[in-house]
Amino acid sequence: MIKLGDSMLVNCNEMLKKAKEGHYAVPHLNINNLEWTKYILEKCNELNIPIILGVSEGAAKYMGGFIAVSSMVNGLIISLKITTPVCLHLDHGSSFESCKEAIDAGFTSVMIDGSKHELAKNIELTKKVVDYAHPRGVSVEAEIGHIGGSEDNVSSNILNATLEDCVALYQNTGIDSLAPALGSVHGFYKGEPNLDFVTMENINRTLPIPLVLHGGTGIPEDMIKKAISCGISKINVNTELQVVWSKALRDFVAVNENIYDPRKIIGSGEKAIKDQINKIVTIFGTRL
Ligand code: 13P
Repeated sequence: MIKLGDSMLVNCNEMLKKAKEGHYAVPHLNINNLEWTKYILEKCNELNIPIILGVSEGAAKYMGGFIAVSSMVNGLIISLKITTPVCLHLDHGSSFESCKEAIDAGFTSVMIDGSKHELAKNIELTKKVVDYAHPRGVSVEAEIGHIGGSEDNVSSNILNATLEDCVALYQNTGIDSLAPALGSVHGFYKGEPNLDFVTMENINRTLPIPLVLHGGTGIPEDMIKKAISCGISKINVNTELQVVWSKALRDFVAVNENIYDPRKIIGSGEKAIKDQINKIVTIFGTRL
């Protein structure tokens, strides 16, 4: 019998290897609280698809810390009898210490975001994380180039990754997956996204590891499919779920002024989140 204290989590490797071979993408959905985590787990289990729960450092702090998040996710997996593969992933780890803390708390995957550093420093930092993570069975994602924020224009302030830098980062670190910045931004796009599919395809042909696309919100369906055909096996989505959830909540509160039960208020976003997951994974073609 599975009991509290057992970890049911897996790292990203097997699910992303299958996705790369099968030409689909596994969703990385960011979690912010217990309710979102529960909805995502329930929906992905119902659809029988793998899921990567992304946790930013800010979200981990909000939820009480890495240990609180890891315990909550493992507890939900047991209580809800989740059988689909679940990976608990640190999103945009900013330092070795942060990645180590997440790993020690039971996260099964970490992203070390050394993209703000020049290449040599990014390699050094990423390698240090890989050396700590791999003996513990934890997968590591790295970033190179600069993935913009919603404040960035699609054509400015985004530093695209080069094939040479991606090769150097991979060969000198042994990372499991790579997020090359190729024009995507976090949050909404100003105008049409401008993704560099040529470089994406070149990186995919050159490196044996799965590629990751950050900034999944607002990328049109045809571009998502093209990205998957160019080796993208993991797509990060955050803003999109926040938008549908908060709209549902606002609509609910507007017509239910007298309801104060937090379970009813927070829970009014459940359907919106689950419906959105359905749409996302249909586009991604996700399967087991
Ligand atoms: P969006 O908020 O644009 O969906 O991006 C999420 C993300 O890339 C998290 O790492």
